[in-house]
Amino acid sequence: MPVKIFSAAINGLEAQIIEAEIEASYGLRSFNIVGLADKTIQESRERIGSAIKSSGLKSPLSQAVKLLVSLAPAGLKKEGSLYDLPIALGYLLASKQALFKTGGKIIIGELSLNGTLRPIKGALIIASKAKEKGFEEIILPESNAKEASLIKGIKTVGVKSLKDALAYLENRLKISPASNERETAEIRPPDNFEVNMDWIQGQELAKRALEIAASGGHNILMEGPPGTGKTLLAKAMASILPPLSFEESLEVTKIYSASGLLPENSFILKNRPFRSPHHTASGASLIGGGNPLSAGEITLAHRGILFLDEFPEFHRDVLESLRQPMEEGTVSILRSSGRASLPARFTLVAAANPCPCGNFGDPEKECSCLPGQILRYRRKLCGPIMDRIDLFIKVPQIKFERLTAQENRGQSEKIKEKVIEARAVQEERLKNIPKSFTNSEMAGPQIEKFCKISDSSKQILKKAVDSGTLSARGFHKILKVSRTIADLEKSEEIKNSHVMEALMYRKKD
Ligand SMILES: Nc1ncnc2c1ncn2[C@@H]1O[C@H](COP(=O)(O)OP(=O)(O)O)[C@@H](O)[C@H]1O
Ligand SMILES: [Mg+2]
Repeated sequence: MPVKIFSAAINGLEAQIIEAEIEASYGLRSFNIVGLADKTIQESRERIGSAIKSSGLKSPLSQAVKLLVSLAPAGLKKEGSLYDLPIALGYLLASKQALFKTGGKIIIGELSLNGTLRPIKGALIIASKAKEKGFEEIILPESNAKEASLIKGIKTVGVKSLKDALAYLENRLKISPASNERETAEIRPPDNFEVNMDWIQGQELAKRALEIAASGGHNILMEGPPGTGKTLLAKAMASILPPLSFEESLEVTKIYSASGLLPENSFILKNRPFRSPHHTASGASLIGGGNPLSAGEITLAHRGILFLDEFPEFHRDVLESLRQPMEEGTVSILRSSGRASLPARFTLVAAANPCPCGNFGDPEKECSCLPGQILRYRRKLCGPIMDRIDLFIKVPQIKFERLTAQENRGQSEKIKEKVIEARAVQEERLKNIPKSFTNSEMAGPQIEKFCKISDSSKQILKKAVDSGTLSARGFHKILKVSRTIADLEKSEEIKNSHVMEALMYRKKD
């Protein structure tokens, strides 16, 4: 009778339960693993053999044992080293060197040659899936236990080594289930931003626009000559974003856990992600894809910022492919096994120079670009993706006196407080709309309900629409941005001044 142990595979951002069947019989020595296992899994034979030997047990590599491991479902491609522990334990059971019950337990972990366990990726989504499928317990490397125990309702047992895992399973060793409630509550999001608003001199208009963008989750484009602080401003925006709520934090941590990108010694992410892929980045690295499926930059930016510096330098197709995710908050990826959908609700922050050399329109410097080059560059700033951008601002050259005169200490912190308060108002207002937290996520019915404006505001907007400077979509954007400006002022009513300010940030050319 083969032994059956439950484990899990990671496919994109989803975990799937895997059944490992292990059969040991006397015969010519062999050790085979079947079921679409990749090279890492094939290599696990060596790790498992050494680890068992180091733990003082009889290794399949040094005996006349025919060992067959089958990983089901067979059609699913499996990768990684997380099957080391279940296979090793399965072999010990099959060869009658151990005795314990395997039902109701998910076992995962990578072994090192001396039998200790190394961290694996995706512990959080595996724990989440295990709970969903009704498993009672998950046994995994100790360093992943805190992360997995973010999922309530399943017992999480962290073990240090193969030996400890076996002793625990055979009831010779007590291990108390991992918990992290106290720590989760206590962790303050690290305040280690590369730059914050205090560092930036002048550019008050840009700072104000970023404050609005951060509050309402509005996409923003900054345009201006090189060296005026656009990159600096975008980076500083990360420092004024509110920390993730617990629900959001779980969403984001799952993505980073499954992608193997959780920072060491951290089991939950509390700061919003800030991703800034280079303009030479490929479509797949931005959007996601591959087999097994991996998350792209837009998914890694979920609930945070996607910063596209030198925006018009990105390939047209790449920019085009951002449209659907920006509209829907998810990205749909076509794969041989059907469509996969990954979360991608980010705030786009884009920066652009006026032309490839940066001097176009400068009264003092000469532009060295050919007319065709400028045209091609500018055309990227009129594409349909511009329809998804709510705030357009110019970041001008500033005078020397302004560069040196100002004392901004504490400004960043003050803006952040305002943003946090404005977000709280929005969250409360949108609490009945699932997974919507900010004004930018409002659709037609919510805009109608929550963005009422006075008759005189309507007159102002009517003029803009009638004169052709404001499209229908543009009209809705103005309403959403006005709502955010009113929220920043803690005003229930959207006033004329809010609408006027919102109009200031629309695209003009
Ligand atoms: N408003 C500003 N306040 C303080 N430093 C600035 C400002 N603008 C530019 N700088 C300085 O110039 C450098 C280049 O700015 P950067 O943000 O890269 O410009 P851009 O992205 O617009 O080309 C920054 O690293 C910073 O040292
Ligand atoms: Mg720059």
